[in-house]
Amino acid sequence: MNSRSLTYLPTTVPLPIPEEELLDLVNKGKDWALMHGAAMRSKKNFSADSLNFAPFSLLPSTMTRKNFQHAVELQTIFQELMHKVAYDKEFLTRCLKNTVLVDEFTAKLWQIYETVQKEGETQPISLGLVRCDYMLQSCNAEEKETPTETNENPPCNWKLVEVNTIAAGFGWLGPASRLIQRYIMEEMNLHDRLQNLPDNNALSGLCEGMLEAWRLYANPKAFILIVVEDVSYNICDQRFHQFRIRELNPNANVMRKNLTQIYNEATLNENKELVINNQIVSVVYFRSGYEPCQYHGDNEWEARLLIERSRAIKCPNIQYHLAGCKKVQQELAKPGVLESFITDKDSIKAIKDVYVGIHGLEFDECGEHAINLALTNPEKYVLKPQREGGGNNIYGIEIKEYINKMKDSQERTAWILMERIFPPITKGYIVRPGEPVPPTISEVVSEFGMYGVIIGDSKKIISNRQVGHMLRTKTATANEGGVASGLGALDSPYLID
Ligand SMILES: Nc1ncnc2c1ncn2[C@@H]1O[C@H](COP(=O)(O)OP(=O)(O)OP(=O)(O)O)[C@@H](O)[C@H]1O
Ligand SMILES: [Mg+2]
Repeated sequence: MNSRSLTYLPTTVPLPIPEEELLDLVNKGKDWALMHGAAMRSKKNFSADSLNFAPFSLLPSTMTRKNFQHAVELQTIFQELMHKVAYDKEFLTRCLKNTVLVDEFTAKLWQIYETVQKEGETQPISLGLVRCDYMLQSCNAEEKETPTETNENPPCNWKLVEVNTIAAGFGWLGPASRLIQRYIMEEMNLHDRLQNLPDNNALSGLCEGMLEAWRLYANPKAFILIVVEDVSYNICDQRFHQFRIRELNPNANVMRKNLTQIYNEATLNENKELVINNQIVSVVYFRSGYEPCQYHGDNEWEARLLIERSRAIKCPNIQYHLAGCKKVQQELAKPGVLESFITDKDSIKAIKDVYVGIHGLEFDECGEHAINLALTNPEKYVLKPQREGGGNNIYGIEIKEYINKMKDSQERTAWILMERIFPPITKGYIVRPGEPVPPTISEVVSEFGMYGVIIGDSKKIISNRQVGHMLRTKTATANEGGVASGLGALDSPYLID
C-alpha cells in the first residue's frame, strides 16, 4: 500500500456481513448483473456469444452529498473550458508543437487536424460527450502518520485525474452499478436507505446528446455511426446506447463499423456528406480510434481523415480529441492560462481548487525542476504519455527508470508528470467472475466520473449540461482501476452528510 493512503471512509453498512447471508447476496448480485447486462465479454475465454458479469462492489461506497454536488457543478465549467480550448488553434499549436515532433500517434492526429483546417471547415458544430474523472483527497492527508479507522467523515476534496473527450465509457455500466447495488440493498431490507443512491441517467443523457446532434443535422433518414474496435469486449457499454437511442426515438437509426470497414465502405458525396452503404451518416460517435493499435495501417488513418472531412457531426471532432491530450491539460494548469478561456472568477477558482500539480518535461527550467522532483520522490507522482485507454501510465520506482532512460532525449517532452492523488480508503466486498465466493473484505479506493454533453461551434455553445455519473472502485494497492482490465469494479455512490 502506498504510504499516504491513510484516511478511511465509513462503509454503507457495518462489515462483515455474516457468511451465509453474504454468499446468498453475492450469488443474487452476480445473476442480477448477468441478466441485466452489467457484463463484458471475457478476454480469457472469448466468445462473441457469451458474457461474464462485470466485477462489481456488492455495496455502494459512501460519498458526502457536498462532494457529489460539487462534481455536478464543476461539469459544465470544465466542458465550457474544453470547448473553448478545442476551438483555439493557436493554443493547441502551442501546447502540442513539441509533442508532435516525438509522439507519432499525436502527430498523425495533428496532421488530420491541419489538413481539414487547410481545406476549410465542413461541419462547424461539435458534439462533446465528456467525462471528468476525479479522486477524493483528504484535506489533511499529509499530516497523518498512522491509519485511523473511523466511522466519521474526514473532510476530502476532489482532485481532477483528467477530462476525457473521446470514448468516455460506462454510460451504461455507471447506471447499471447503482441498479445492482439497489437490488442488493433491497434484499437486505434497507428500503428506507435507497433514497441515498442518487439517480443516474447517464445512458439516456448521453444518447439524448447524440439525438440532439442528429436533429441539428436535420435529415431524419440519416444514421448515427458508432466507430467500434475490431472486437468489443465492453459490448454492453456500447449496445445499450444503441438500444436506448431506439427507445428514445424509434426513427433514429444506428450503425456500428470499425475503422477498416469505414475505409472499405465509406465515401463522401458531392455535398461532403458521409455515405456508408447508401446511407447518409449525420453523427459519428467514436468508441475507438484513441489508441495506436486501433489503426492497423494507412487505411484506418484514411478512414479517420474521411470522417473529419465529412459534414457529419463528430463526437469528438479532431480538435476535441486533441484538446483532451494530457499535454494540453498540463498546459491548462499553468499559471494565467485558464484566465484566457474563462472570465468568471468563481469558475476559475473552482477549476484551480481541483487541480494538482502537473509538470511538462521540456528542456527548460520548469522541465528540469520536474525531472528533479520525479527522481527525488517518484512515489509522489504519476508519469503519463499521450495515451488513452488505461495501462499506459508509470508509477513509483519505475518513474525513476523511465526518467533516467529518456532525460537526455526529446522523447521526454511528450510525457507529463502529475502529482499522485491519494484517495481515502474504504472497505468492501468486490465480486469478480471466476473468483471464490464469498469474497473477503478488501481495502479499496474509488474514482468518480461525471458525464456531460456539450454542443456548439466556434462562436456559441448551444447546449451544456451534466447528465450522470459513474464510480469505479479498485483495491487500494492497485495503481490503475480499469474494470475491463480486471483491476477495477463497478460501484456507485451512497450519499451521506
Ligand atoms: N494523479 C493521479 N493520482 C493517482 N492515480 C492516478 C492519477 N492519474 C491517473 N491515475 C490512475 O490511473 C488511471 C488512468 O489514468 P488516466 O485517466 O490519466 O489515463 P487514461 O489512459 O486516459 O485512462 P482512461 O482510459 O480511464 O481515461 C486513473 O483511472 C487512475 O486510477
Ligand atoms: Mg483518459
